[in-house]
Amino acid sequence: MKHEKDWYKELVIYQIYPRSFKDGNGDGIGDLKGMTQKLDYLKELGVTAVWMSPVYASPNVDNGYDISDYFAIMEEFGTMEDWEEFRDGAHARGIAIIMDLVLNHSSDLHRWFMESRKSRDNEFSDYYIWRDPAADGKAPNGWLSVFGGGAWEYVPERGQYYLHFFAKEQPDLNWDNEEAREKIFDIIRFWNDKGVDGYRVDAISYLDKGMDGRADMTEPFGTTSCANLEGTHKYIREMVEKTTRPDNLMTVGEVNIRNLQDAKDYTSASRGEFDMAIGFVPPIVEIKTWSPERFKKEVREYYEALKEDGWWARFLSNHDKPRQVSLYGDDKTYWLESAKMLGCYLHTLPGTPFVYQGEELGMTNIQLPSIDDYDDIDTKNYYKTMVEEGASPKEALAESQAVSRDNARTPMQWDDSENGGFSPSRPWLPVNENYVRINARQQMADENSVFKFYQKLIALRKENPVLVHGDFELCCPEEGPVIAYTRSFDGVTWLAAHNFSGGTQRLACGRVKREAQVILGNYKEQAIEEGILELRAYETVILKVE
Ligand code: NOJ
Repeated sequence: MKHEKDWYKELVIYQIYPRSFKDGNGDGIGDLKGMTQKLDYLKELGVTAVWMSPVYASPNVDNGYDISDYFAIMEEFGTMEDWEEFRDGAHARGIAIIMDLVLNHSSDLHRWFMESRKSRDNEFSDYYIWRDPAADGKAPNGWLSVFGGGAWEYVPERGQYYLHFFAKEQPDLNWDNEEAREKIFDIIRFWNDKGVDGYRVDAISYLDKGMDGRADMTEPFGTTSCANLEGTHKYIREMVEKTTRPDNLMTVGEVNIRNLQDAKDYTSASRGEFDMAIGFVPPIVEIKTWSPERFKKEVREYYEALKEDGWWARFLSNHDKPRQVSLYGDDKTYWLESAKMLGCYLHTLPGTPFVYQGEELGMTNIQLPSIDDYDDIDTKNYYKTMVEEGASPKEALAESQAVSRDNARTPMQWDDSENGGFSPSRPWLPVNENYVRINARQQMADENSVFKFYQKLIALRKENPVLVHGDFELCCPEEGPVIAYTRSFDGVTWLAAHNFSGGTQRLACGRVKREAQVILGNYKEQAIEEGILELRAYETVILKVE
């Protein structure tokens, strides 16, 4: 597909977690053939791009985010021909392909690392971050890894430690080595030649480790100490200039955004880095600190900061977070209302929306009965640390269930047949039992479903430039659970209002007119008076006010 500059602004991007999307060969694991079978479903939903989480060869310590061969497809997912078939099928339906690029680290089973660990003077010896032990023989510094424990691992053959900001099976690549960088860019060139339309670039804020004294060593986590150093920005600009910019391929960086300046640095078009950024917020922090008030403040501040020169990636869910309807909505009493409300919020904000598989069905969190039933390395380590620190197994399990990334990784619920129509065999992770009630087949036939509501939202965005290019202005009090704003473009103004609570709320706002046209809502009728909008539990509404 050929791409104009800025084409990414109009996309609606659907994230597929291939392991859990659709099993095409009956082994209980999702795969590329299954993805191809479901292309018509994606077309019907209306999305215009698919970001697939990694499908490269991997030992799956971190479900594909540990890559052992960037030029090959993971056997469980199929073959390169299967990938090509998916690509062709997607392109034929006008759906762009966004690949996940994991370039901060590789798998420890990647050939480069297997060579690198052997000695201090082989061809790949400097492709990773190796350091001598400290004077006491311990790790070179006290950095911790994101998945728990120290960030350094000792290798006797070299008599040195290597750095891993994630699992010890995910050694960090050395971007300071020019030859290694060129080899990394060759990976991108290979996929460019295969017809990829863009990339989601994983954990990319830590390329420059700043170990010469620039990293802030008062921070225990390596990923916090060295986040967003200037060397990282320099390497990103080099990568984009050499690989994606010439063909306007879309890029979204998964970055550690701590403040508005970081957001500007990564996404300002004039700097030549990413088109947009996904801010990496560890779920545990978000679960404890999210509130509608915080959403309002962040949305406004980031809009102001980026409106001249940057852009936003909008998402409420992905494979690293619990399910949005369980986290921000009410997955029991107001499941239907809140699932739709969150979708409407996502699609009416400025920026490019990202829909995570199953979100369009209102899929919910799962509570697996034992920690042994969980698959996610982060969940397992989190549980272990809690127990080591004195929590009872019951407490640790309850907390792990709430934050686990596996909440979002349970298989897609396609229909009410066994295993939710995901696979004829026992799936690699249990299907949520509510598949009998929450599934795609049922929702595609039900005009009042979450799926049909998402379909309408996506179509609205395609047909109305105000949702893509419109200016944004909040029009609700800072306090309270109602988030309301206007989007204005070319003489048209829409007002979107969302109630993030289970109680009725009254929004007083001069922009609300009694005769306003209702574009979309999740209740049959709306309670509109001059200057007042009454919003019932989790009600959402879009009004045309000008
Ligand atoms: C972010 C990815 O989204 C996550 O799933 C992964 O574990 C880490 N980066 C490490 O690659």
